[in-house]
Amino acid sequence: MISKIMPNKQFKNFPLIGAVFAQVISLVIIKLFIEGFSLKLTSISYAIIQGFTAALISQGVFKLPKWFLTISLLFPFLFLLAFKFIHFSNSIYGVLFLFFSLTFSHTLKERVPLYLTNQKTYEALKKILAQNNASTFLDLGSGLGGVVRSLSSLKVKSIGVESAPLLWGLSTLLSMITLRGKILRQNIWNTNLGEYDVVYAFLSPAIMTKLYIKVKKEMKKGSLFVSNSFEVDGVTADEIWQLDDKRQTELFIYKV
Ligand SMILES: C[S@@+](CC[C@H](N)C(=O)[O-])C[C@H]1O[C@@H](n2cnc3c(N)ncnc32)[C@H](O)[C@@H]1O
Repeated sequence: MISKIMPNKQFKNFPLIGAVFAQVISLVIIKLFIEGFSLKLTSISYAIIQGFTAALISQGVFKLPKWFLTISLLFPFLFLLAFKFIHFSNSIYGVLFLFFSLTFSHTLKERVPLYLTNQKTYEALKKILAQNNASTFLDLGSGLGGVVRSLSSLKVKSIGVESAPLLWGLSTLLSMITLRGKILRQNIWNTNLGEYDVVYAFLSPAIMTKLYIKVKKEMKKGSLFVSNSFEVDGVTADEIWQLDDKRQTELFIYKV
């Protein structure tokens, strides 16, 4: 019944919103029960019931990814703990809200979290660029700009595009201080890929198919698209580099 009224398709694209809805619906159901049966619950038993109901809704009704099960179960406890034991000043809420919205704007919208490329991957990317005589490099969604700065050299013009304001600001500052690379405050989807020899992405499986269509349409012949960790569904990579770092990074290389 709920799944008929609720926009399940939207929750597929924005699972965090689905998780919040699951908590709200669970809250309403439990409140009705408490009032209807005049129940008296301790805050801890309330948190348990709230977590279980929200987890059931998130999986059974909204069909959110499995990891939302844990989040839904734990959220009421963490909420309870935070309010019981930590006394926040009022302004901290505003600061936190601002920080999260300026940093993680894409986590909700495009399911692209912020995780960063490591040193070993920088070195592998440098090799890929050298082997292919590349002189222009683009990092799609450049985060703190580490890849862009690391690959910038006299031979390589290294550019990043980043639209989360705080990340863009910080990485631009770092580029200015180190005189390495350049970060454009730009959305991936409005970026023309045509002028780069190597385009790098460390994004999310959720957008790989859409991104690859853009790559095929815009990138010049002979250039390379390198994806950290996420393959393009149904397309065999021309090369896969398995790195010996802790997370066993795989670089999927597609020749255009
Ligand atoms: C997983 S992080 C990778 C950061 C960096 N490339 C690295 O490897 O260290 C993905 C980044 O892409 C950014 N991003 C996601 N979607 C974007 C979009 N549509 N336009 C611009 N940036 C985007 C996010 O803000 C985040 O900083």
